[in-house]
Amino acid sequence: MKAVADVTQRGRELIQSACSVAELRAVEPEAFGKRSALAAVTRTLRDATPEQRRDTGRALQEARAELEAFFGRRMEELQTKEAEMRAESERLDLSEAALLARRGAGALSEAVPSPVQKGHIHLVSQVRAELEDIFVSMGFEVMEGPEVEDDWHNFQALNMPPHHPARGMFDTFYLGAGGEGAIDSNSDLSSEQSAAVLRTHTSPVQVRLMESRKPPIYAVVPGRCYRRDTPDASHLPTFHQIEGLVVDEGISMAHLAGTLDAFVGAFFGSGRRARLRPSFFPFTEPSAEFDVTCWVCGGEGCRTCAGSGWVELGGCGMVDPAVFDAVGVDAERYTGFAWGFGIDRMAAARTSLADLRDLVDNDVRFLSQF
Ligand code: DAH
Repeated sequence: MKAVADVTQRGRELIQSACSVAELRAVEPEAFGKRSALAAVTRTLRDATPEQRRDTGRALQEARAELEAFFGRRMEELQTKEAEMRAESERLDLSEAALLARRGAGALSEAVPSPVQKGHIHLVSQVRAELEDIFVSMGFEVMEGPEVEDDWHNFQALNMPPHHPARGMFDTFYLGAGGEGAIDSNSDLSSEQSAAVLRTHTSPVQVRLMESRKPPIYAVVPGRCYRRDTPDASHLPTFHQIEGLVVDEGISMAHLAGTLDAFVGAFFGSGRRARLRPSFFPFTEPSAEFDVTCWVCGGEGCRTCAGSGWVELGGCGMVDPAVFDAVGVDAERYTGFAWGFGIDRMAAARTSLADLRDLVDNDVRFLSQF
């Protein structure tokens, strides 16, 4: 009987010493299975007397039952413990994010972005809003037009009939059935005329304005434009312009020059000079290009201004009578001026930015500076 008490004790110790479910399974054979002391004592019964066999046999059975029960309890204990540990390791600590949010950005280490950090309006949108304010204060209305245009508004009404060489100034994205083939000289005229394009400038909105209302018109039109340009330091295939259009009686080139002067003073301050340089556009006569002193070198000549000291912001001029004819404005009675300037370049000028591509790379470290 002493032997039975010993093997029970030995089995309990083994079971108790297991610290995980896996360990417990591993000790089972030694605790009360084939390799256990219990099994060894059971084997000795073969040579025992019938009474010994009966008494010890019963004791051994009880011992086995007890060890099995103890094993079961230990197994449950270890399984519960392991499930708890697993749950703990997989838990998401949301309290940390909430805490940081409450303390505000100032409490954050640099490596941990605040979940509530606020963004701000993009530089180009800020400049667009500022330009609108300046021109509204000068008595202009702010208008908009569609980014997908037809050939009539983007080209023909602006004095660029099909196959006009000036269309080459615009690397145009064509949409729809005609595709790029629509400007192919082999294509028939009707498909060219019906081709939809991504507007290459904001000038088509001049046409829409004059088609839909009578002069006097004093309007600016900011918006997005598209050209098949390879991006570089001063070109983006998707860019922004602000168009201006004035149509009234007695309007002269002096009004254009005076308006641009007032604009340069309001937007750039006195630090930057501007000039008008004779140029050509099919929709203006005379036409000029509008330049400001380079914001990177201040006029010395550098990569951004291709050595000239000036950067072109856009074109302008007196509205060509052919445009008035196309939209039904009486060219005997009315004259007008117009311009189209790049907003992205003006944003670059304002911030002395050497490369327009920085505006669209979406690097928050760059954009958050403005
Ligand atoms: N639309 C021209 C361009 O994108 C710029 C321009 C030139 C607009 C003369 C005008 C203008 O309104 O009068 O290149």
